[in-house]
Amino acid sequence: MARVLTGIQSTGRPHMGNILGAILPAIEMANKSENESFLFIADLHSLTQIKNPAELKENTFQVAATWLAFGLDPNKTTFYRQSDVPECVELSWYLNCFFPYQRLKLAHSFKDKANRLEDINSGLFMYPMLMAADILLYDADEIPVGRDQLQHLEMSRDVASRMNHKLGDIFVLPSPIIQPETQLIPGTDGEKMSKSRNNTIDVFANEKEIKKHINKNIVTDNTPLESPKDPNSSTIFNLYRLIASEIESNKMAEQLRAGGYGWGHAKNDLINCICEKFAEPREKFNHFINNRNEVEDILNHGAKKAKKVAEATLIRVKKSLGYNT
Ligand code: ADP
Ligand code: TRP
Repeated sequence: MARVLTGIQSTGRPHMGNILGAILPAIEMANKSENESFLFIADLHSLTQIKNPAELKENTFQVAATWLAFGLDPNKTTFYRQSDVPECVELSWYLNCFFPYQRLKLAHSFKDKANRLEDINSGLFMYPMLMAADILLYDADEIPVGRDQLQHLEMSRDVASRMNHKLGDIFVLPSPIIQPETQLIPGTDGEKMSKSRNNTIDVFANEKEIKKHINKNIVTDNTPLESPKDPNSSTIFNLYRLIASEIESNKMAEQLRAGGYGWGHAKNDLINCICEKFAEPREKFNHFINNRNEVEDILNHGAKKAKKVAEATLIRVKKSLGYNT
């Protein structure tokens, strides 16, 4: 049995890129009978960016409702809030003491954030070691992530190997799992969909809002309606093919190539597809938003299950380091 684990930061309501790129692939892996799974909301990582308590709480809740709306089964998966199992913070300290400062200085994500954000706090710098602790605490084997997380996974393996080398085999070495199809979902401007780029699509918005948003924000060129168009260079088509069936995608590609089918038509087909495809999750999401206690109960139960595993690992690690257990 492989142990699958992944986390999503609670920095806002998940958008279509997060859902197709991270949440759905993780749920698919978690639901396989041959896997055991740990999925969590990385609300300690979010503190690097979010300092407003009400916002932090609300985001955590929205992320939890999203996982549940897309079919996470809390009976099969251990589903929890990272902050409910603070053992990861203790473990991250031990990891920090075995990981060279110079290696952390080379992290792309830190450099990227340091260039963009105003609040360049030390938490951002230590971020990869807290993430390594999230993984190593649960002896996870497979970590489904987006391509942007690969370097963090390398660091997790690196620190685990360093400690295994010094202390004996205390950690399982985790492997990243990247889905080539969905590793980079384009946003409305054709670049990587991302909160920080303001190019996201909110699949939980109502139909009217989705329609307005797509019509206004997806950028198209001014090729006339009658002329043939290249599907592959179109953001509309690139989004459509990720959610439509193969038959529907082939149909849109043919229509674009043939001419007589304009960007407006393609946008309409995309809007209808998004509204249809996400209708059920949207309903479930609204259910959880209106039944917060249900979500709380699920997370509290998950935290208890996670804590048992976390405590056992910490005892193993502390013993190997020479601490009293
Ligand atoms: P954002 O870039 O919007 O801030 P996050 O960095 O919080 O998103 O990403 C959360 C998860 O969603 C990560 O696993 C990340 O790899 C994945 N993800 C984010 N944007 C995309 C995208 N455009 N395509 C594929 N996966 C994505
Ligand atoms: N850093 C990840 C992100 O930004 C979130 C995360 C935190 C994570 N801990 C993790 C992902 C452990 C996988 C495993 O998306």
